[in-house]
Amino acid sequence: MTELSVESISPELGARVYVAPDHLLDEGVPEQCLELLNKHGVLVFPAIGISDELQVEFSNRVGKMKPSKIYSSGNGEEKSLGIYKVTMDPKRAKFIDYIVSNEYWHMDGTSYAIPPKATNLKCEMPSSSGGDTEFANLYLAYEQLPAEKKAQIDDLKVVHGVVAANLRWCKNPSLVDLERWMRDGPATEQPLVWKQADGRSALVVGSTADHIVGMDLDEGRALLKELLDWCTQPQFCYRHQWQQGDMVIWNNPGLLHRAHPYTQDSGRLMHRTTITGTEALS
Ligand code: OGA
Ligand code: MN
Repeated sequence: MTELSVESISPELGARVYVAPDHLLDEGVPEQCLELLNKHGVLVFPAIGISDELQVEFSNRVGKMKPSKIYSSGNGEEKSLGIYKVTMDPKRAKFIDYIVSNEYWHMDGTSYAIPPKATNLKCEMPSSSGGDTEFANLYLAYEQLPAEKKAQIDDLKVVHGVVAANLRWCKNPSLVDLERWMRDGPATEQPLVWKQADGRSALVVGSTADHIVGMDLDEGRALLKELLDWCTQPQFCYRHQWQQGDMVIWNNPGLLHRAHPYTQDSGRLMHRTTITGTEALS
């Protein structure tokens, strides 16, 4: 069996995996990666430099890839294989608002009953400045919450949606944009504490969390902010600085993530695949 070389980044979060591209699909390798993903939260494949086809195939072996519906800017660009291009370049990004919102801490897919299992980014071109991706370990953050706080929040429900996330920076959206946001990430009630099948629990907070059900609006938002600040303390975080060819895959249900700011002319381009969720948010 192909042995992977694995180097932990910190005891809290992240590991680097060294494997040659032509061994990535060897028997047992995607399965080992899924195990490592569950253990370390974030897997970095430094400068692995794989093709789009291999990224898609790998995603489909770690789980079941969910092809992106948003292909390209419609300017005759190459067929995308279901890969989503993460870029601020107005010539290539179809909806820049979703890319800007990536700069706020979030979990992917909180509007859905079953959020994605994992997100996989491959760096085609790093940003000329900024553009790191940072991750926060939600399991650890929950585990280390004081018992009284756990008791206070354990049964709370939160409404999540893309509108809440985008309104954080886009204060006067058009009606057309608002409708698209509501379609792409409808307001959905979710438990604040996601108790997962393996016994771990994640605090589902971040930019999509709008308010707490049944609580005074300001009081609920203050609590959501307090919990977000708790979860994103430096000791729970790993910040990845991209090199061309890096691939990073993360365990979406156990993490918050965000992009550090970068500009439209930064050159930054990521090829992104999503792996279908396996567990309902409950
Ligand atoms: C995403 C995302 C962050 C980044 O693709 O879901 O949040 O750094 N990306 O581009
Ligand atoms: Mn994201």
